[in-house]
Amino acid sequence: MMATPLELFRDTCELAGDLIVIPVSLALILPLWVVSALKSYLRPTKRVYKSIVITGASSGIGAQLATKLAGPGVTMLLIARDIDRLKEVKEECVAKGARVEIFSTDLASKLDLYQDELLRFDSANPVDLLISNAAELVYTSSASERDWTSKEFYCHLLDTNISGVVITTQTLVPRFQSRKRGTIMMTSSINAFLPPGQQMFYNMSKAAILSYSESLRTLLDKDSITVSVLIPGLTNTRLAQLLWKEGKSTFPKPLSTEEDVLATIAVDQLKMGATTIAPSVWQYVTAKLVNTVPLTLKSYIVKAHYLSGVGGAKQT
Ligand SMILES: NC(=O)c1ccc[n+]([C@@H]2O[C@H](COP(=O)([O-])OP(=O)(O)OC[C@H]3O[C@@H](n4cnc5c(N)ncnc54)[C@H](OP(=O)(O)O)[C@@H]3O)[C@@H](O)[C@H]2O)c1
Repeated sequence: MMATPLELFRDTCELAGDLIVIPVSLALILPLWVVSALKSYLRPTKRVYKSIVITGASSGIGAQLATKLAGPGVTMLLIARDIDRLKEVKEECVAKGARVEIFSTDLASKLDLYQDELLRFDSANPVDLLISNAAELVYTSSASERDWTSKEFYCHLLDTNISGVVITTQTLVPRFQSRKRGTIMMTSSINAFLPPGQQMFYNMSKAAILSYSESLRTLLDKDSITVSVLIPGLTNTRLAQLLWKEGKSTFPKPLSTEEDVLATIAVDQLKMGATTIAPSVWQYVTAKLVNTVPLTLKSYIVKAHYLSGVGGAKQT
């Protein structure tokens, strides 16, 4: 069907808008990034965290963050489902001199006891760093056409990746506000910007976390609370190994970030009070820029990006 003159006019305006938005974004994002990076690096005193809560601490990035932050005088509460793996991480942290408590819970289930536990820990050890990191990943291609549209397929993921993070954070926010200090870091993902269709529920959860962290940052700024977001690209953890094992990623393993490297960068940045923590700056800036192009072009770029192995899962 032929486009009407009005539709043609609207499309031309949209294209012209995009042609302006891209160079303006380029001109704005890069200098802002440099200024904020310089501000972080030039900050004279490094923050010290003595009471730390980490979700998703039984493996991968969360476990690495825990061992890197552990040390004498540090008290930690580590949270995940797998109690045995939590015990292993606890041992490593205790060996470094930290006092560690562990709590096993499914963040997708009823969380009253969990909230009580967070508050109990905070009353005994006023928390100065909360890391809301737990998440899971499912792919539409791992289910049949019907399955992936059923709520059983995506509810657990959305509950864990969104509600789990929000409930954890909201439980402690009033305590942070009453003390007028504290740092909160949530783990988002590059998939918040570059969303492969096959991982759509995961992508939307990570976009939600990015938006939640940015909104909370503006809300809590007046209370001197720092809200940071960690934006990893593909990182060599259990989650990513599953992608490789199931043949869903063409991304060359050697080009992914090692979990301990990512955790070292994140801990350094947290100590400097950084708010956006992206281990791969080029990937983050590219992802932001791709977000400014028209959707048709963006989906071509996302497909090419993932198929060429630059970003993760193969589209099937
Ligand atoms: N690896 C990557 O390429 C990549 C890229 C971008 C962002 N990220 C993000 O990084 C964070 C950590 O992931 P990872 O790569 O380190 O993967 P991982 O090794 O699988 O770690 C995920 C952690 O979350 C916990 N978890 C998952 N579902 C849970 C639930 N329902 N209740 C409680 N705990 C739960 C897991 O523990 P249990 O199984 O013991 O419960 C585990 O400790 C996630 O937010 C992920 O989205 C990862």
